[in-house]
Amino acid sequence: MTDQIDLFNASGIEVTIPPKDFNPADIPTSAQVPIPPGTYKSLDPLAAHCKSCQRCDLSQTRTNVVVSRGSRTAPIMIIGEGPGQQEDEQGLPFVGRSGQLLEKILASVRIDSEKDVYICNIVKCRPPGNRNPLAAEINACRPYILEQIRLVNPKIILLTGATSVKGIMPHEKRGITKIRGQWIEWEGRQCMPILHPAYLLRNPSREKGKPKWLMWQDIQTVRAKLDEILAE
Ligand code: URA
Repeated sequence: MTDQIDLFNASGIEVTIPPKDFNPADIPTSAQVPIPPGTYKSLDPLAAHCKSCQRCDLSQTRTNVVVSRGSRTAPIMIIGEGPGQQEDEQGLPFVGRSGQLLEKILASVRIDSEKDVYICNIVKCRPPGNRNPLAAEINACRPYILEQIRLVNPKIILLTGATSVKGIMPHEKRGITKIRGQWIEWEGRQCMPILHPAYLLRNPSREKGKPKWLMWQDIQTVRAKLDEILAE
């Protein structure tokens, strides 16, 4: 498993490049074999692979694999932690209460969730009882999210909550409340950790300094960066 993580940690570690005639359909979905960057030519074979994936035990309890929604050419990628009950039932990310709040947050700064955003999760199968995904589950699923990032090629990545930060930046030790709202350059992309919408649902106050107020500051910063990018 450590080998697999290293293969996908693109920070100076040599990575395996798949041969030209390589067919991702030949990768056994039941084993944690490496899936090197460049494995998938497009998001369709990646999604097909995810749908038959059994790289971890979440495959035993899921109803649907939840791969993504939104635009495949979006400038912004939003990465959540993992599907909840509604997402597991519908096979789409952020369609439950957190998702509805996320839609409102985006709409408040005129970010169109169909056109401007690609939404996905660190783990693609629901952890039972909505527990946090285990490190082994995050690691098993990491090749997929790294391939989604490579193929969508977003300029901006929003990491919602601590699990999302852990999935993309395993070496980041600072807590989410310390780093939220800050741009962190990762693999040439502008990443911003933001609070998870579920946390806002549990803390509904709009008072200055409270989670909803902080989110309002952060989403305006994101809007400004998007405007900058669109003007380039
Ligand atoms: N929370 C997440 O992190 N992702 C979803 O898809 C839904 C809720």
